[in-house]
This record gives sequence, C-alpha cells and structure tokens, in this order.
Amino acid sequence: MAGNSNQLALDVENWKLERDADGLAWLSLDRAGTATNTLSKAVLAELNAVLDALDAHPPQGLVIRSGKANGFIAGADIAEFGDIRDATLAKALVKRGWDTFERLAAVEYPTLALIRGFCLGGGVELALACRYRVVVDEPGTRIGLPEVMLGIVPGWGGIKRLPKLIGAPAALDLMLTGKTIDARKAKRLGFADECVPPRIMDNTARGVLLARPAPRALRFPLSLTELPLARRYIAAAARKKVARRARREHYPAPYAIIDLWERFDGNALAPPAGDSAAIDGLLASPTAANLIRVFHLQERLKTLGKTAASTIARVHVVGGGTMGGDIAAWCALRGFVVTLQDQDAQRLAPAMKRAAKLFTERLKDPRRIRDALDRLIPDINGDGVAHADVIIEAIYENVDAKRALFEAVERRAKADAILATNTSSIPLEDIAVALNDPARLIGLHFFNPVARMMLVEVVAGRDSDPGLVARGAAFVRAIDKLPLPVKSAPGFLVNRVLAPYLMTAMRCVDEGIAPEVVDEAAVAFGMPMGPIELADTVGLDICLAVGRMLGNEGEPPRKLAERVAAGQLGKKSGQGFYAWVDGKPQKQPAQTLPAGLARRLVDPLVAEAKAALEEGIVDDADLVDAGAIFGAGFAPFRGGPLQYARTSAAPS
Ligand code: NAI
Repeated sequence: MAGNSNQLALDVENWKLERDADGLAWLSLDRAGTATNTLSKAVLAELNAVLDALDAHPPQGLVIRSGKANGFIAGADIAEFGDIRDATLAKALVKRGWDTFERLAAVEYPTLALIRGFCLGGGVELALACRYRVVVDEPGTRIGLPEVMLGIVPGWGGIKRLPKLIGAPAALDLMLTGKTIDARKAKRLGFADECVPPRIMDNTARGVLLARPAPRALRFPLSLTELPLARRYIAAAARKKVARRARREHYPAPYAIIDLWERFDGNALAPPAGDSAAIDGLLASPTAANLIRVFHLQERLKTLGKTAASTIARVHVVGGGTMGGDIAAWCALRGFVVTLQDQDAQRLAPAMKRAAKLFTERLKDPRRIRDALDRLIPDINGDGVAHADVIIEAIYENVDAKRALFEAVERRAKADAILATNTSSIPLEDIAVALNDPARLIGLHFFNPVARMMLVEVVAGRDSDPGLVARGAAFVRAIDKLPLPVKSAPGFLVNRVLAPYLMTAMRCVDEGIAPEVVDEAAVAFGMPMGPIELADTVGLDICLAVGRMLGNEGEPPRKLAERVAAGQLGKKSGQGFYAWVDGKPQKQPAQTLPAGLARRLVDPLVAEAKAALEEGIVDDADLVDAGAIFGAGFAPFRGGPLQYARTSAAPS
C-alpha cells in the first residue's frame, strides 16, 4: 500500500492523511489558521470526507493524531456556538458531532487515537469512537470532559461511550465534575489501552493496530453497571452527589447528563421536547449562555497576559507568611526557581511544610516533587534579590516596613527586575516614594488561598511603568493564573466589590438574622459560599481592616468588631461567626429565608461594580464581571454582577 497517499484527491485543509508500508493510514489534525486544534464545523465536515476516501480504499488500520505541538484536541470550537439559546442551531451542533463519531465508530478497519497533550470534550469523544486509545505519558497529557462547566453536555457520544468503557461510576464522575485526568490514570481507569513514553508512541500505535487485540470491554463487576436496575441506582446516587454542589435550577446540565445516560443511552438528540433531559430546556435557561460567557472572559484575561513576553526565570519573595509562603510555593510548582526570604529560618518552616504538601498533592510523582522542592530555596539573607527577575513583597501590611524594604531591595535588584507588592490596602504611590525610580513598582495582588484562587490583580500605580505592568501580567500567565489589570485605588476591584457585600451580610447578623440564614440566601442566589462563612475563611481581622480602608458606612458591623477584639478571627482561630472544627464551620440548618434577603446582599456588590467601572478602575464591563467571578466568587452562572444587572429586572 506504500505510496498510496497521492492516489486520493483529498481536498482538505485541516487534516493530513498519509499511508505507510504496512497499509496503515495516519491521519493528523492540524487545524489551519490556529495554534490549537478544535473541532469546528469545517474540521468535522472534512473528517467525513476523509472517511469517504478511506471507505473507497480501506486501510489496515487508522491512527488519528495531532499535527500540532501543543496537544491533541481541545474540544468543539466554542467560537462557533453563536447564540446557544437557539434550539435549532444547538441541535444541529450536537447532530454533526454525534453523526460523525457514530460513523467513525462503525468503520470496519481498526481505529486508534494517539493522544499526546490535552484531549478535551469533543477530542475525548472522537477518541472514544475509535477502537483503541494510546496515551502518551507526559505531564501535558490531560484528558477530560469539561462540557458541564459550560452548562452543556458531552453530546457527541461521550455520555454513551465512556460509561461502557470505564464503568458508569468513574464516567459520571468525570462528566459531572469536568475534571481532567493524566495519562496514567487514563490507563488505570481503562480509557487508554496503552500508556507509553513519547519515543515509542508511534510504534505502539502501529503494533496495536497490526495485532488487533479484542477491544476493551467492561469486566465484572463493572459490567453490571450497565444493567437497567443498576443504572437507576447509580443515577439516583449521582443526582444526590450533584445536589450537594449544584442546584438543578441553577445548573441543569449535570442533571441532564445523568438523565441522558440513564434513559437515553447518552443520545442527546433522543429526548422528546419537554423531557428533563431535552437540550431545548437545558439551553433555554440562561446558565449555558452565561457559563460560555465566563469561558470567554477567562480567555480574555489570558490574552491580557500576552501583550508582553514573560522574561522571568527567577522569582524572589519577601515575607514567608500566609501569602508570601504560598505565592513562593505556587511559583516553584509552576517551574520557577524561587528564593523565599523572611526574618529568620523559624518563620519559613511552616511555609516550607505547606509547600511540600502542595507539591505532593499536585505532582504525585516523587521525582517531580523533589525537583519542585529543590526549586524553592529558603533565603534568610535575601541573596536571591540580586538574581531575581521579579521580586514580590508580602510582608506585614505596614507602610513604613514596606518602604524600608523596597528601598533596600532597589539597591540590590537587577536594573530590569520587576518590583511588586502584594499589598491589599496601601496605595502604591505611598510605597513607591521610597524608590529612586518609582516607576519600577507595580502591584501583584494575590488572593487567599493562593493555590485555589485563579485571579491576580495586576496593579498600575500612578507612576508605574506600563511596560513593567504588561510584563507583570505576562508573569501571572506564566504561573498559570489569570491577570486582571487594575488601577491603584482602595480595594482595587475585588475587595471593593466584595467588602460592601460582606459588610451588609454582617449587618444582617447584627440585626438578628442567623448567619446560617444569611449564608443560605446567598447560596440560593448562586454564590459558591455564603458571605459569613467567607468572612470567617478570609479572617475577620482582615475583613475589618478592608472594611475600614474602604470606609463602608462609618462604624464597622458590631459583631465583627467584637469578635476581632476577642481574638475570634474565624477559621484560623477556630472561632468566628461559626465554630470551626476540622476546617469546617459548624452550622445549624437554615430557617425560612426572609423575602428579598439575597437582593439586599447582592445589590451593594452590583452598585460597587458599576461605580468601579465608572471610575475606570478596570477598562470595561467584561473585566469587572471577570474580576467579580474569578476573584470574588460571584455566581458564575449569572455571568457576573453587571451581566446580572443587565439581565435581571425582576427581584431574585
Ligand atoms: P503574614 O503576617 O502571614 O506574613 C508576613 C510575613 O512577613 C511574616 O512571616 C513576617 O515575618 C514577614 N516579614 C515582615 N517583615 C519582614 C521583613 N522586613 N523582611 C522579611 N520578612 C518580613 O501576612 P500575610 O497575610 O501573608 O500578608 C502579607 C501581605 O499580603 C500584606 O501586605 C497583606 O495585606 C497582603 N495580602 C494578604 C491577604 C490575606 O488574605 N492574608 C490577601 C492578599 C494580600
């Protein structure tokens, strides 16, 4: 069959088809005009054309792989979703992927997906339609079905095929959380037939196709999960689990996934209109459109980190407390060499311990854990200052201490190093006076807990050099966080919108409403965590300080001030508005919610978001919403406070 590749007049621009001496066809996706492979309408249409050509001259086997260096397939092309609320368009979108992959699954020759790098959503569904899957054992290989995070369902065969391959419990877990797994886990779960290092990936793919082993089938007892009675039981258990995290009226997609699996064998086109699993109903709620908006907002923040190159190799952090310690650990996790400075070694010990825990959780592999630990260097004398490309200050919130520190740091730092402060409340200009060149100072404002919070505010002070601010944003991307450029103003954006919401919540408690009731009202609105629990988590001393700085309506909430005076600081001291046991607040069940309580809590947040926009703290409304969602935890399915204000005239 060698030399056949030119026989077929294949007029496709996104795929490349080659045949080898063994008669195997190697099909590479290299989507034209983009850096990342996605399954656009054109890409799927061309895949059908390729399958036509292969039908005419069936190969001994087909390998589908990526022609891009950065990964396999990121999923459907979200830019093509258009108005997802249009049911006709949405159905056509589901149908074109479903039909194509049904067809791929039905071809007579053996097929294999060779997966290296990310393989998400529709990419996984394509791989599932192949008879075999080989995954490449590298850190970059991540496999997942994130549709649920966009308020949609894996409707291109994922719900049908994944449970049959790895069993319903594991499949539902992946589809309902949207989380990704690495290559080894993919093999362990039975998603992949082989997990191999890159140097033997092609030979492995060839070997599997030529040997044609029997396709994987579910083994006992997992095979039982396909039986109708078991389905009903597993579906009920899955619904219960989802209900703990997401309410059906807010997030219908996970419930639809369970329904589609239980009653329609994963075919999203099958449910009749009006059925709880029908996509019409799913998309009629604003959730999917808003979650897709959130996705675009996230992409937007990512591009804000691309306006300058990140030329950073070495990071120096001063202050190894709650924030500095975790910032340093995060940077080391992401591959940077980090020196961490504090006043004495004792103070660094807890930070190093937390770092080891973070590395163990995230990296798993002992060699990679050791490498990360090697990259994080305790540095009591601050020797790292002279070599660092970025110096992040996270010492006490005290302007004189910060001035003295930066004065000393500027003398030793490289001329082009970024000098950054993590201050929450001190105007950058007040710190920058200590510098010979005040233009060198920017803010990099991280949130607590650093490992979980995606957003970092990149603060431009009055004198900050715009080039340094852009490099700061690029650095934030390089450590895999989302940069939000903000102007130096009290509370920047996130604390500015968060503070009036938290203060209002605490005033409600002062009025005698139980903390549980206040929290429940906010959670029912869609906040991931109630404001009182959040205040306890952040630390009541910090809330009090931030509230004072922003001058929220004069006197601070009475109970807040009392608790701080009594040393009851929330989670970290074991007692705040709640008693905390094993890291969890002890709550009584909430009583009936007073009408309008959610509105009372959220309105001040929305008002502050509008004010921040008018004052130009950030550049536009989308960035306000992005900051409120990723930094302040505003209900993502509502699309952000300004989007919420635009779309909800009626009281919630
Ligand atoms: P922290 O009190 O936990 O840590 C401060 C650390 O800095 C201590 O270990 C202390 O020994 C060290 N330090 C003080 N002066 C020093 C000096 N001259 N040289 C070297 N090390 C020195 O404080 P935390 O909470 O980590 O806050 C640090 C900064 O981050 C503050 O500016 C705060 O406003 C800001 N921030 C805090 C957040 C939080 O939730 N805790 C959130 C975002 C920003």
